[in-house]
Parts: sequence; C-alpha cells; structure tokens
Amino acid sequence: MKNILVSGGAGFIGSHLCTRLINEGHHVICLDNLFTGAEANIEHLKDNPLFEFVNHDVEFPYHTEDLDEIYNLACPASPIHYQYDAIKTIKTSVLGAINMLGLAKKTNAKILQASTSEIYGDPVVHPQVESYWGNVNPIGPRSCYDEGKRCAETLFMDYHRQNNIRIKIIRIFNTYGSRMLPNDGRVVSNFVVQALKNSDITIYGTGDQTRSFQYVDDLIEGMVRMMNTEDEFIGPVNLGNPNEFSILELAEKVIQLTGSKSKLVFKPLPHDDPKQRQPDITLAKEKLNWQPTIELEDGLRRIVEYFREYRYID
Ligand SMILES: NC(=O)c1ccc[n+]([C@@H]2O[C@H](COP(=O)([O-])OP(=O)(O)OC[C@H]3O[C@@H](n4cnc5c(N)ncnc54)[C@H](O)[C@@H]3O)[C@@H](O)[C@H]2O)c1
Repeated sequence: MKNILVSGGAGFIGSHLCTRLINEGHHVICLDNLFTGAEANIEHLKDNPLFEFVNHDVEFPYHTEDLDEIYNLACPASPIHYQYDAIKTIKTSVLGAINMLGLAKKTNAKILQASTSEIYGDPVVHPQVESYWGNVNPIGPRSCYDEGKRCAETLFMDYHRQNNIRIKIIRIFNTYGSRMLPNDGRVVSNFVVQALKNSDITIYGTGDQTRSFQYVDDLIEGMVRMMNTEDEFIGPVNLGNPNEFSILELAEKVIQLTGSKSKLVFKPLPHDDPKQRQPDITLAKEKLNWQPTIELEDGLRRIVEYFREYRYID
C-alpha cells in the first residue's frame, strides 16, 4: 500500500484517479478547494477508510508526512472556469506547483504533473511531438492557463535538476467522460447536453477544425503507468487519442447517438482557438506500452448515458 496525494482529486479526472488508486488498495489524500470539483464526484469514496478528503487551496503550502507519490492536478481546465479569475488560475498553476514540489522535496515523494496539450498552443507541427516547443500567445485570454502550465513544467524540471526530485510530466490531450460538468463549455459535454435537451448545437467557426478525444479511463491507465515507470524516465509524454475528428463530425455523431432533434448553429471562433490538435503518442507506446482502447463512439455512448442519468436536468 502506498500513501498517495492527489491535488484536484474532486474534479473530473481527479475523482477517476482517486477511485482507481483506492481500488488498487492505496491510501489516498484528495486535496481540493472544490472550485470546479464537487463532493458528489467523491461521494462513493467518502466512507472508505483508505480515502481522506482535505478542503485546501494549493496556492498555500500543505504539510503531511510519509508520502510516496503526488499527482498534481489542481487547476481549472475549461476556458469558462480558468478565465473566470485569470490571476487565480495562474497562481494555482505556479504556486500550486511550487507547493506540491516543496512537499515532494520534504517527503521524498515521486511527483507527477498533469500538464496539457495547450503547452503546444496553436501548433505549426502536426501531429504534436513532445520535442515541439509550441506556439503560444503569452498575452491573450488563454495565456493564464497555457503559460501557467508551461511555467509549472519549468518548475518541475528545475526542482528535478536542482534538488533531484523524482518527477514525471504528462501532457493530457482533450479528455471526456463521466463527472464532467454539464455547463463548462467543453465541446463533448456541451454537445451531449445540448443534444439531450434538443436545443441548438453551437459550432464555433466552420466546424472543420479538428480535435482528438480521449476517454477518461484510457487517460487514467496512462497516468498510473507513467507514475510507475523507472525514475530515469521523466517525460514529458503525450497522453491522448490520436484519432482525429472535425467538430462537425463530432456534432453529427452526438445527434445520431442521442436521436436528437437539435439543429447546428454557427458562431464566430473564440480568440486563439487552435485549428488542429492531435497527439503523437509514439513515446507513450514505447515507454508505457500504452495506447487508447476506447474509441469515440463507445466513449460517447458512456457519457450520453451518464448525462441522461446523473447530470442532465431539463
Ligand atoms: N480534461 C481535459 O481534457 C484536460 C486536458 C489537459 C489537461 N488537463 C489537466 O488535468 C487536470 C484536471 O482537469 P479536469 O478536466 O479534471 O478539470 P476539473 O476542473 O474537473 O478539475 C480540477 C480540480 O482542481 C480543483 N482546483 C482548482 N483550483 C484549485 C486550487 N487552487 N486548489 C485546490 N484545488 C483546486 C478543482 O476544484 C477541481 O476539482 C487539470 O490540471 C487540467 O489542466 C485536463
């Protein structure tokens, strides 16, 4: 049994990770300020003696002893939420990374950073390989998230070089699944909820911009495998599903799966919206023996089911 801390553990991805780690028999401390997370996401864990929830903001230091591993996920991830208080977002990324790295230093824990494909910005290299440095606007409305995450990667590398902290960096591409918020503007949940309500499905731009969508279970498998690699392998490593779909194709699939009467409506593209995003996962295949197994249609079926049962309120 390991002692594992998950910051952001009450969020969408974090709650699936906590569940997986508890199921493996580990003791899990879930640190979260519930900004975009919810106690409902961890309700099924709360009576488990292996699980501990601490309401804490990672902007401030957190002290505990005897930690084996830290997964650092705390950070709002959807544009609506990370732009709501941009200064808070960058503080969460940067101060959160410093505080979690400080804790790793004190406890000698291994620490994994949940970084993002936004590191690559509006990429001119396609598909994106880890060696690509990205094309990021440092002064735009998305910069609080993108640059905050880039700075966090820098901090991880510097703590590793200067203090020999054992680090792992993963770059997560567009992920969807149960426990996403129904109204946070992320494309898959947006479309599914709009379709279930038979309301208009909003496409930004022409809809020919492409994305690759990863189901959350695949991501969790990749995260745990990454944490368990030998100390010498620190990444960064891309975790995403390389199958590419246009936004229009996604909307059509959702309409077909839900049997919705929704119509498509087109709105202008938001600022700095990348035109293409697709991970190169050669490194993850080689080092983690990992690749996604859940294809879009299967994943969409599961999230449609989830919103039908739990989140969709007419
Ligand atoms: N979902 C994706 O497609 C995706 C893609 C790339 C990277 N990521 C990264 O994965 C991580 C989890 O994302 P998610 O999709 O689960 O989002 P989420 O918003 O559901 O989860 C983030 C969690 O962090 C918590 N949090 C936010 N600020 C905090 C603070 N200051 N102190 C403590 N807790 C705080 C929130 O309450 C929430 O529970 C994030 O770091 C995100 O950047 C997600």
